[in-house]
Amino acid sequence: MTRLPVALQSLLIQCAALLLALLFNGLIQAVFLFSPVLWQLALAQGALAAGLSHYWKQPIWWRPLHAGFLLVVLAALQLDLPAWAYLAAFLLLLLFYWSSFRTRVPLYLSDRKAWQALAAQLPERGPFRLIDLGSGFGGVLFHLEARFPQGQFSGVEIAPAPWLISRLRARLRHSRVDFLRRDYAHLDLGAFDVVFAFLSPAAMPDLWQQAERQMRPGSLFVSLSFGVDARPPDRVIPLAEGERHTLYVWCMQGSG
Ligand SMILES: C[S@@+](CC[C@H](N)C(=O)[O-])C[C@H]1O[C@@H](n2cnc3c(N)ncnc32)[C@H](O)[C@@H]1O
Repeated sequence: MTRLPVALQSLLIQCAALLLALLFNGLIQAVFLFSPVLWQLALAQGALAAGLSHYWKQPIWWRPLHAGFLLVVLAALQLDLPAWAYLAAFLLLLLFYWSSFRTRVPLYLSDRKAWQALAAQLPERGPFRLIDLGSGFGGVLFHLEARFPQGQFSGVEIAPAPWLISRLRARLRHSRVDFLRRDYAHLDLGAFDVVFAFLSPAAMPDLWQQAERQMRPGSLFVSLSFGVDARPPDRVIPLAEGERHTLYVWCMQGSG
């Protein structure tokens, strides 16, 4: 069970909790001759789902999500929205979040403080190539491009809507940044002097292996917020209180 992707685990937990809640419903009706109303059933299902989530050691924030899921579905049904509204909302989320159920990296944006800390790691003189893995709306790259005219900047983004928005922004600004729509796992990171990533803890172990295999000695691997267990960073730059507000920098040694 723990090996399943967390989204599939959660689907199974919701279904199992629903079956258990229906079973209890039948028992209560038979023994106490009492018929719970729908919201009471949803409450019981939520409690069971949160319990199962705890039992399977899912991250703690899944518990309130499981507890409230069916209740929110019931509340949404009360709104009597047309079916196309749900389809439209689903498509919109799909365009922005795409395969984040697989990558476990949602879209959220870094801020100017992080961009400035990253800029401080880059060579003031001489050309270099930098890529932002999961470039979102391109904010990091547009900021750096203006500061480093000698740099070449690329972004790779898997989700269609952020990629399209970054392409449009690049066109409007006459930017030199190259935005690719691809999974970074299929790129050769050896082509870059600096690789920047702001992803999630789930993405870091595989990405670190890729970086170690492909990046050249002397190149920089920079991660915002998320470290790796395999090797302590060479530089740690705190941006604010808490480890999530930290820039980690590794000077790569090359795999050979
Ligand atoms: C936390 S956001 C960071 C956005 C931007 N780099 C920033 O700092 O503002 C992570 C982005 O990575 C993208 N992403 C996740 N997995 C990816 C993958 N395997 N290949 C390319 N992009 C990916 C997501 O769609 C999301 O837009």
